[in-house]
Amino acid sequence: MSVAKLGVGLQYNPELIGWFPFRDQPLDLLEILFDSVMAPLDGPGLLSARGAALLDSVSRLFPLTGHSNYGGDFGFDDLASTPAVRRHVPLARRLGVPWVSDHCFYSDSSWSDVWSSPLQFSDIEAVRVAERARALQEFYGVPLGHENAAYYRVCPGSTLSEAEFLARVVELSGTYLHLDLHNLYANELNHSGAGYSIAQFLDTVPLDRVISIHVAGGRWIDDQYHDLHDTEVPQPVWDLLDEVLSRSRPGAVILEYETQAILHRGTETLDHAGTTEVILADLERARRAWDRAYGDHSRRTTAIRVAA
Ligand SMILES: [Fe+2]
Repeated sequence: MSVAKLGVGLQYNPELIGWFPFRDQPLDLLEILFDSVMAPLDGPGLLSARGAALLDSVSRLFPLTGHSNYGGDFGFDDLASTPAVRRHVPLARRLGVPWVSDHCFYSDSSWSDVWSSPLQFSDIEAVRVAERARALQEFYGVPLGHENAAYYRVCPGSTLSEAEFLARVVELSGTYLHLDLHNLYANELNHSGAGYSIAQFLDTVPLDRVISIHVAGGRWIDDQYHDLHDTEVPQPVWDLLDEVLSRSRPGAVILEYETQAILHRGTETLDHAGTTEVILADLERARRAWDRAYGDHSRRTTAIRVAA
């Protein structure tokens, strides 16, 4: 199955809403974080009031794609009870997204401590995760691409590499991949001593099943590199984007940018104008990379329309 080739987009992150001029940009798409617009599970609605208003202001301007973080996709709760099935699936159908990406980590109904809790990369978990992934993709009714995570420690009991695990999951489930290139970069920086290799990763996963890509920045804090999405995209990630676009045909390259980490450090204040410039410059670099790979007039906003 091939997906629509939309072009270069930006994640519709709540931390940018209210000051970043989304509506003025030639974005080929916006990536919606389902968790940020959905209604609570203990109420009757699908969208929160704020979420409905936020979507209203952009849904007629841009094609939307969907991203699921805290869906409980690969935890151990009954799939039917998870936020993914109860909120994200109906949201995806309501918004008419062409695909959905989801994050590969454990999460459950507590929602409280799930970030960067990597799956156990083992054969038995690949089978269990693939069963849930296959069922979820059927619920969504559109391609579901699993995002490789940035993680700090490998889950105990892992016997496969992350790439071997993901390749096994999509082979068993018939689902797809969403490649986060900055997560690859962060993992190589943090785990090169343990043999993590981006080159090996790209040679192992089925690149023909990549439906979308994330690029982002991050930074070192003490002796760990963090996927904080709060800096410009580093040069090695741009190099990686060129390489991946020469070996696969995803439907979108999406920039992730967040500000919370900056504010939490307390040593910097948010410079809206300067941050906007960083985001716009990265979007422009991503467009140039896309156009190098797909040719001129290949994005939604640059396609030459031929009259029928
Ligand atoms: Fe990502």
